[in-house]
Amino acid sequence: IFSGPISFLKSAPQLQFLPEPTVPEIAFAGRSNVGKSSLINALTGRNGLARTSNTPGRTQELNFFDIGDPLIFRICDMPGYGFAKAPPKVVQKWRYLINDYLRGRQVLKRTFVLIDSRHGIKNTDEDVLEMLDKAAVSYRIVMTKADKVKTAALEATKAKVLAEAKKHPAAHPDLIVTSSEKKQGIDELRMAVLDAVQI
Ligand code: GTP
Ligand code: MG
Repeated sequence: IFSGPISFLKSAPQLQFLPEPTVPEIAFAGRSNVGKSSLINALTGRNGLARTSNTPGRTQELNFFDIGDPLIFRICDMPGYGFAKAPPKVVQKWRYLINDYLRGRQVLKRTFVLIDSRHGIKNTDEDVLEMLDKAAVSYRIVMTKADKVKTAALEATKAKVLAEAKKHPAAHPDLIVTSSEKKQGIDELRMAVLDAVQI
């Protein structure tokens, strides 16, 4: 599936611009700069499909990618949350967009919540996990940028995140550890994505 046709569909700055809910969707959520867009590129094996940047706040709208032709499912790349440097109004707008999409999207099969391997779960992550629990949206935690930490530190953060995940009813009990840079964990992520859309 990931070696077949994949294309950018559209950007939705507001909920009214979402694509027709005709096929299953999965979403990538996480703090600004955690590596959402990079992981979508690694997952699909296409550099430059999702726009990435060193500057937090790169992705500002919900971006949809069509997988398969004929269409099989869609991936949604979301703006980051917890980006303190953006103007408060903009942060608020993103928060509403993210929350409304995650809570209300019928075709959303699973959300992948990305956590930076260097930082673990922050308060803003915790808020999103609680929101997903309440909305009963199934999600899976994915650790990113594993190449940036030493093995011992990674193991320690993994243990903490795992313990935290177990407290959340809507969270998958296991983690996926990835590095888009080193292409680590990408096959496992692909299987998890196909499992989410039941292929
Ligand atoms: P926003 O759209 O701003 O919320 O960010 P994002 O979560 O989409 O992050 P993005 O993919 O744009 O990556 C942010 C920065 O982290 C970029 O400079 C990437 O090159 C870098 N990055 C992403 N993944 C990895 C990784 O696995 N390893 C390393 N070392 N750097 C990474
Ligand atoms: Mg992005």
